[in-house]
Amino acid sequence: MCGIVGYIGTQPAASEILLAGLQKLEYRGYDSAGIATISEGELHCIRAKGKLHNLQEKVASWNRPASLGIGHTRWATHGKPEEYNAHPHRDTSERLAVVQNGIIENYRELREQLRHHGHTFRSDTDTEVIPHLIADGLPRIQAEGLQAHHPSPLLEAVRQAVCQLQGAFAIAVISADFPDELIVARQQAPLVLGFGQGEFFCASDTPALIPYTRAILPLDNGEIARLTPTGVEVFSFEGNRVRKTPRTLNWNPVMVEKQGFKHFMLKEIYEQPGVVRTCLEQYLNGDWQPGMADSPIHLGLPTDFYNNLEQVQIVACGTSWHAGLVGKYLLEQVAGLPTTVNYASEFRYAPTPLRPNTLTIGVTQSGETADTLAALEMEGTRHSEGAPPPRLLGITNRPESSLSRLVPQIIDTHAGIEIGVAATKTFVAQLVAFYLLALDLAYTRQTLTPEQLHTLIEGLRQLPAELELILESQERYVETLAHDFVDTQDFIFLGRGINFPIALEGALKLKEISYIHAEGYPAGEMKHGPIALLDAKVPVVAIAMPGTVFEKVLSNAQEAKARDALLIGVTPMDEQEAAETFDALLPVPHVDELLSPLLTVVPLQLLAYHIAAHRGLDVDQPRNLAKSVTVE
Ligand code: F6R
Repeated sequence: MCGIVGYIGTQPAASEILLAGLQKLEYRGYDSAGIATISEGELHCIRAKGKLHNLQEKVASWNRPASLGIGHTRWATHGKPEEYNAHPHRDTSERLAVVQNGIIENYRELREQLRHHGHTFRSDTDTEVIPHLIADGLPRIQAEGLQAHHPSPLLEAVRQAVCQLQGAFAIAVISADFPDELIVARQQAPLVLGFGQGEFFCASDTPALIPYTRAILPLDNGEIARLTPTGVEVFSFEGNRVRKTPRTLNWNPVMVEKQGFKHFMLKEIYEQPGVVRTCLEQYLNGDWQPGMADSPIHLGLPTDFYNNLEQVQIVACGTSWHAGLVGKYLLEQVAGLPTTVNYASEFRYAPTPLRPNTLTIGVTQSGETADTLAALEMEGTRHSEGAPPPRLLGITNRPESSLSRLVPQIIDTHAGIEIGVAATKTFVAQLVAFYLLALDLAYTRQTLTPEQLHTLIEGLRQLPAELELILESQERYVETLAHDFVDTQDFIFLGRGINFPIALEGALKLKEISYIHAEGYPAGEMKHGPIALLDAKVPVVAIAMPGTVFEKVLSNAQEAKARDALLIGVTPMDEQEAAETFDALLPVPHVDELLSPLLTVVPLQLLAYHIAAHRGLDVDQPRNLAKSVTVE
């Protein structure tokens, strides 16, 4: 939520660099945007309501050369998305500016105190207290004089201010009175520093940095940094110097371009065969045959990681929670481990009672979701006396994110960064991670025979080609079919067993990018209530893959058809009975039911994408959403 950027260096191009950075961060919020720069001893602030292009137009007609500045793209929390609430926010003198990502929980008390000290507030935001708080402390700190452990009064004033803030935040601060300093701080919200040649950057996320540098340094919670044209110094909130070394990001700037696709979402749907291939190559032992001594899967976990394991609990949000539901099916049915899947936002305030020998898995594509991180942090400290320490595992495509600094073990899904706000390739990659984990556990716990394991692994290896086949053979057809639903108001998605979470995911994709009301339901539950919603205006999409519940799903689909619903089936190409049941087909290759979610989700992603595109909506940046949800 919200993206912040900062630049300090020798190029007089701060505005261009900030705007380019904000463009890469727009996926984090797009309610308003703004920049503040310092030139000729003055602070200049330009802000605009709405998407970034509004700000770009304003900056184009009023630009000053500057080598220091900060920028922000907003996802509104406190205060409407209006220009007066846009960041940067300034102190009363308008010489100091702040951008923030997060929420300051004690802003009301601070604002009252600061009003009594004569500060004037101009916005409804929580953030505005920060510039006033810093400005409030500065004169006293300057009067005290520089002490040995205060490299600069501005740094010290920001340090004292952040110590008074409660909540989760990442901030960047500049002042016209300190034209060679950019101060940044982090507490529970992401912030990465970038090291260039005589220039330094900060940003909420790495895509804003990689056009300039791949040498990056993520700040940790409770750290504050001072960036000058000659270097970077990092301190703790207590004022102690922290020694940290930048690392090199193994990324290519092309990864964050559309590469000829109309939208990032479509590009990312098309990346899925490659993502699955890469993930499998990374973790599967290519030569494995039944009878070999080692596991066919090498996830890089400690050798004793699975010892005495009795149950698993998964914490996640949104699409990642759906991946967790598929994970539960696999861990229970394949590896025989009782598993719960929890919304992280619920779990953190009402956790399951502690049970020994539990593995907690956090699933998150961004690696920054506040609720998921908080739930994992809580599990890391919840510990009953005499019991072994908690076992935590993260599943993510962002191994450089905050998640990896919170949990000791990570399965990197190798999906890379995802820009489209609606998750697609990262979901499929999370599923692959769960397949590999469940099969590795099944090998260790001997819940599958080596032959069964071999068959499933061979099935997994076929998936990239099968995904390619779906994309090649289906996209045009789905695009045409989608025309029929441009004015539809409600959709129902049905699935059972391992494909129930895919029904939820299909409904979520449609809701979030097309704004059509959609519900995912376990097909067998329809008759217990939701069937009352059905009539000729409500299409029903049913996922019917041969296996344990195939006939049942077809019967449930017939029940919907008897209520005049138009039936769309996600089903194998050669299933005669299914072909006769459904009015329209979204065919997928014939695969083992257990592996089918990796295929059945793709036509649903395409359907949601094309309906939204036909409706002329902003597919990559749907209203009210943000890619990285760093607030509660
Ligand atoms: C849906 C979507 C969201 C995220 C959710 C969790 O397409 O992207 O529902 O899945 O906000 O995000 P992560 O996975 O970053 O924790």
